[in-house]
Amino acid sequence: MRLMTRDSGLTQARGKAMRAVGCCIAAVSILVVSGGRAIEAQLPQTDQESVQAAVTRGAEAHTVHCGFCHGTNARGGASGPDLLRSELVLDDVDGQQLGEFLRVGRPDAGMPAFDLPDGQITDIAAFLHAEVDAAANRRGYEILDIVTGDPEAGREYFNGAGECSRCHSPTGDLRGIGLRYDPVALQGRLIMPPRGARGGGPGAVDPAERDRNRLRVTVTLPSGESHTGVMLRLTDFDVSLRDEAGRTRSWLRSGNSPTVVLTDPLQPHLDMLPTWQDTDMRNMTAYLLTLK
Ligand code: HEC
Ligand code: HEC
Repeated sequence: MRLMTRDSGLTQARGKAMRAVGCCIAAVSILVVSGGRAIEAQLPQTDQESVQAAVTRGAEAHTVHCGFCHGTNARGGASGPDLLRSELVLDDVDGQQLGEFLRVGRPDAGMPAFDLPDGQITDIAAFLHAEVDAAANRRGYEILDIVTGDPEAGREYFNGAGECSRCHSPTGDLRGIGLRYDPVALQGRLIMPPRGARGGGPGAVDPAERDRNRLRVTVTLPSGESHTGVMLRLTDFDVSLRDEAGRTRSWLRSGNSPTVVLTDPLQPHLDMLPTWQDTDMRNMTAYLLTLK
């Protein structure tokens, strides 16, 4: 993985993630953000898929249980600290330390105790490790001076090999993106487009904006009747969604009934990450910065 050899300023986070590499979750979280073909090749496809699925489930479990206080992206929220800088999270391996901590919490300091199934804790840990690594990766690019890309090559990649124009347009959805973000923030959005409403204060939020890029769930009952909507909650015991009409619907779960299928609106975008090389990344960023 070229990025790692050049990223001499190995961050603490990445160092720790690497030490935990024996655990497949840490290994793939690196793959997810740095496009490492080497690691991709080491892991059988099914492992990769199951770890990606864990990250996706973990993101949603985190939103449901932790996002209110720590922010949906875990970078700090209404009352909880930034978890991506937490020693406890950085030292965690496979959810073990996190699990121990969550069972006790620090109720006196406003951190409740949680009684979550082990699987859900490992999912949340997988999500946090992926986020830590994404943040470390972004700092890596920052060190590399990401504005050294060639905008013209970036434009070609955008319309050609990168196939970005299948979903994006420089005069449509990405218009003015170069004015909205600095290079580091822009590259962060390329790596992990945010979910949910963008910024804004309290007050009425447009429902489409509130649900932007959030996971969808389809629940199929034994009768064959099925419902699709934005996933609000998914545990081993129940599932809730918000349907098109804005109604919240919930079902109890037992074993595989009702059937639950998750879909991620960002999946097509995220699937492309491993194919981007450092140069593509730089050139694309340079190009996107020219979109005023
Ligand atoms: C009601 C708000 C609230 C919720 C919900 C919440 N937290 Fe916290 N969390 C806090 C606060 C406040 C602290 C800081 C406690 C302190 O100062 O010692 C904290 C601390 C932590 C820490 C320790 C950070 C460190 O290194 O000291 C971790 C890890 C953590 N929370 C994870 C989680 C996870 C995972 C969830 C969801 C399962 C969650 N929290 C849900 C408020 C919350
Ligand atoms: C198959 C569809 C698809 C392809 C191909 C795709 N993306 Fe995306 N991309 C998305 C979706 C969906 C989002 C989330 C849109 C949103 O948040 O409104 C997104 C988000 C983004 C964002 C963040 C926009 C923002 O305002 O935060 C950027 C930048 C971006 N994509 C650039 C690219 C580039 C560059 C490529 C090509 C290398 C690419 N995308 C390929 C679907 C795609």
